[in-house]
Amino acid sequence: MPHDISVRMAGVDDVDAIHALLLPFAETHIILPRTRDNIFQHLQEFVVAMYDNDLIGVVAVHIYGSNLAEIRSLVVREDMHGRGIGRLLIEGCEKWATQLGVARIFALTYVPDFFAKMGYPRVRRESLPHKVWTVCVHCEKFTDCDEVAVEKRLSDAPIEPMRMPPIIEIHQA
Ligand SMILES: CC(C)(COP(=O)(O)OP(=O)(O)OC[C@H]1O[C@@H](n2cnc3c(N)ncnc32)[C@H](O)[C@@H]1OP(=O)(O)O)[C@@H](O)C(=O)NCCC(=O)NCCS
Repeated sequence: MPHDISVRMAGVDDVDAIHALLLPFAETHIILPRTRDNIFQHLQEFVVAMYDNDLIGVVAVHIYGSNLAEIRSLVVREDMHGRGIGRLLIEGCEKWATQLGVARIFALTYVPDFFAKMGYPRVRRESLPHKVWTVCVHCEKFTDCDEVAVEKRLSDAPIEPMRMPPIIEIHQA
């Protein structure tokens, strides 16, 4: 029977699997650590890759404002590397960020060559706004960070304020 690979937004039932997938990479300082509570609190940011019913990849998109989002917590299960899952996750979070109206997206990473293949050239870390570093102050490598900044423009349109459809519409008689 052929196997299905799909990419979708995460739900509460995914939290344990996301936590388990991220943990070894957080322990080796490849990504920042996240508790289960932290994943619940930021669940709307998470995109997951599924192989049949198994969660095999994850990425998060953190929005800073209408002109900037960050790719965080990108991990593909090791036995699934090299099958295009990382690319699908990046495409998924770019689609999500584009739908939200974000104009550019960046990552701080130890795999800039992977991101180069995804269309993210390197940029100077100093070109990122200060608020980007608020999470990094909790990292033990903060004063000696060797991650590379990469960035992609999602839209050539002038940066405008976000316009979202209403979630709740109240019609009064
Ligand atoms: C980086 C990672 C997400 C890539 O996922 P993946 O599913 O193996 O990547 P894909 O199969 O989609 O690869 C897409 C392309 O990138 C290339 N690529 C993948 N990993 C690469 C790497 N580390 N360096 C350079 N190129 C890489 C692939 O060869 C492929 O190239 P192609 O399109 O020319 O064939 C995965 O290796 C991973 O989980 N690493 C550990 C965690 C990590 O480093 N996360 C990044 C935090 S920012």
